[in-house]
This record gives sequence, C-alpha cells and structure tokens, in this order.
Amino acid sequence: MSDLSGLTALITGAAGGIGTAMAEGFARAGARLALVDLRDTSDLAARLGPEHRAFTLDLEDPEAIASVCAGIGAEMGIDILVNNAGHGVIFAAADPQVEVWDRTMRINLRAPWLLSAAALPYLQRSGRGRVINISSQAGVVALDEHAAYGASKAGLILLTRVQAFEWARHGVTVNAIAPTVVDTPMAVIGWSGEKGDKARAEIPVGRFAKPREIAAAALYLASEDAAMVTGETLMVDGGYTMR
Ligand SMILES: NC(=O)c1ccc[n+]([C@@H]2O[C@H](COP(=O)([O-])OP(=O)(O)OC[C@H]3O[C@@H](n4cnc5c(N)ncnc54)[C@H](O)[C@@H]3O)[C@@H](O)[C@H]2O)c1
Repeated sequence: MSDLSGLTALITGAAGGIGTAMAEGFARAGARLALVDLRDTSDLAARLGPEHRAFTLDLEDPEAIASVCAGIGAEMGIDILVNNAGHGVIFAAADPQVEVWDRTMRINLRAPWLLSAAALPYLQRSGRGRVINISSQAGVVALDEHAAYGASKAGLILLTRVQAFEWARHGVTVNAIAPTVVDTPMAVIGWSGEKGDKARAEIPVGRFAKPREIAAAALYLASEDAAMVTGETLMVDGGYTMR
C-alpha cells in the first residue's frame, strides 16, 4: 500500500461517491486531506481525523478556485491534487443544450485546468507533485448521449498529457484515470434499470466498478512507485474499451 505520510492531498468532489472513497483511501495511506466540494464535507473530514480540512468551493468560479487553492497551499501545502469533481448530465447529440454543454465543460475540463495551474507552485515545491485527473471511458469511446460529457472527458485526457509534458521538469507527474460506470449517485442518473443491466453485460468482467477500486488506482498514481508514470490514462473499466 502507498505510504503518503507527511503529504497533503487535495481532493475535489470529495462529497461524492468516488471522492469519499478517495478521501478514505488517502487518509488510510497517511495523507493529510484538503477536501473540496460544492457541498459541505466537514463531517467527512472530522470522521477521518482532526488533521483534515474541508473547503466549500464552486469549481465553476475561476476566482474562487484561485483563492481557495492559494489558501490551502499556504496553510497545508499541496503534494497531490485529485481533480475528481464532475458533472454527469447526458443528452442527445442533436439536442443543442448550450447551458448544459457549457456547465459540463466548466466543471469537467476548465476547473481541472485552472485548479492544477493554481496548485502548480505548491506541487513544484513538494518535489514529488502529483496531479490525477478523473476522466471516464466516455472520454475514450463513443457512448450514446455522451457528446458533452464524453468531449469534456476526452479533453481532460489531452489536458493531462500537455500538463504532464510541461510539468515533468518541475518534478510533477500528471495522469488520468478512466473508469467504466462506477456504483455512485452519479451512475444512478444514467445507468439504472434495464439500461444498467445491458451496460453491465457489455463489460467483460460483468459488473460496474466500485468507488474503492478507483481510489486504489489513484493511490498507485500518487505513490512513490509511480514516479516514472506520467501522461498516462489508466483504464479501470473491466475491459470495456479493450476491443
Ligand atoms: N460514477 C460513474 O459512473 C463515473 C464513471 C466514470 C467517471 N466518473 C467521474 O468520476 C468523478 C466522480 O464521480 P462520482 O461518481 O463520485 O459523482 P458524484 O456525483 O457522486 O460526485 C461528484 C461530486 O462533484 C461535486 N461537484 C459537482 N459540481 C461541482 C462544482 N461546480 N464545484 C465543486 N464541486 C462540484 C458534487 O457536489 C459531488 O460531490 C467525476 O469526475 C465523474 O465524471 C464517474
């Protein structure tokens, strides 16, 4: 298991299904947590231990991103940034839902770009900085009604590679994780009932992923052992995209 003692991990979307599993996993590995979400995560922080802190932040607001990140960096440092918050509304590609499209891009793509940039000075100071961007299988293959979500997650994979390329010289690795459907509140929106059963059957391992399996992938990428891995997208998809 990764030993992250003495390191600070900033996790966005910490109130959600995957974010909570990440918080639990990173806390078990010894990291000090800065939990960030639109929703209050102070109960989660308190449950995990007195050294952890909760921050409320709307990732659609560039100025708030800069100021909250500067506050966390000054108070706690930032060694690991997990850009996990996401917006998962789906609609048909022929349906011009401009506001949903823009919101999806602001949360899933613009916020990881801005937050990573704001965190860079602290990641650089760390000497072993890590950025982990939570993408999706929908950023790799075409899924029905996933034009905006898929485009945002595909963009995040390319953003990961550009950040990795530019920041390798600063001792910062940047990687993405692309899960299949994960059993969380977000998945219920698009993958319940018959649609969910069909989707499970199309995954070679025959089931959706569990939040802790995504956390385990993030813990590996955050670890010292992963220092040579950068610009990669780790598929955690039960084989869905292998063909
Ligand atoms: N659940 C899945 O099936 C699945 C599959 C692949 C990828 N993902 C990705 O994993 C990540 C986590 O998803 P999840 O399933 O835990 O979803 P979730 O809905 O349970 O959690 C998402 C969290 O992001 C937060 N958030 C949304 N907008 C925000 C904003 N503007 N500012 C701050 N916080 C905001 C929400 O409050 C929520 O706590 C997302 O990026 C998602 O796209 C999820």
